[in-house]
Amino acid sequence: MIARVAPLLLVAATAVAVPSIALSQGATGRTVWSGVYSKAQADRGAAAYAQRCASCHGDSLAGGDQAPPLAGGTFLANWNGQDAGALFTRIKTTMPLDNPNSLGAATVASIEAMILARNGFPAGQADLPADPAAQAGIAVTDTKPAG
Ligand code: HEC
Repeated sequence: MIARVAPLLLVAATAVAVPSIALSQGATGRTVWSGVYSKAQADRGAAAYAQRCASCHGDSLAGGDQAPPLAGGTFLANWNGQDAGALFTRIKTTMPLDNPNSLGAATVASIEAMILARNGFPAGQADLPADPAAQAGIAVTDTKPAG
């Protein structure tokens, strides 16, 4: 009897798991693993980062006395499950801490692309859009989705 019940339980567990995976990847199913920025954009972002962010967050994004790291496990844990548009808005409206809202949207997107690159997410063909609404369908997930 037990051997017959077990497969049924497995099916039930799978049916529950699938919708939550779909949700965490956003409506379009795109994630930061999908190649959502271009290498040229990330290179532009690195130049802007060096001028506007590195003094606090460090050249290697490791963080500083007060500023948290922008690459690695702690950073990814903070953003896991959110969408890329939320990260864009966070940077645009609160950073640089000493002069928030001073960066244009294209510069914010390029710095965001550079942060994605330094966190190990792959480059693609097109630029990350300089618009949080257009980024809303891109999920930040710290582990690569299967498939
Ligand atoms: C004057 C120092 C300073 C500068 C310059 C600065 N930051 Fe920050 N940043 C901080 C501090 C301090 C925090 C944490 C406190 C807070 O969120 O206000 C932070 C938090 C952040 C966070 C949230 C991190 C997380 O894990 O959620 C991001 C993202 C970020 N900064 C990006 C940037 C970017 C991109 C730039 C350059 C455009 C920048 N910062 C420039 C000091 C700075």
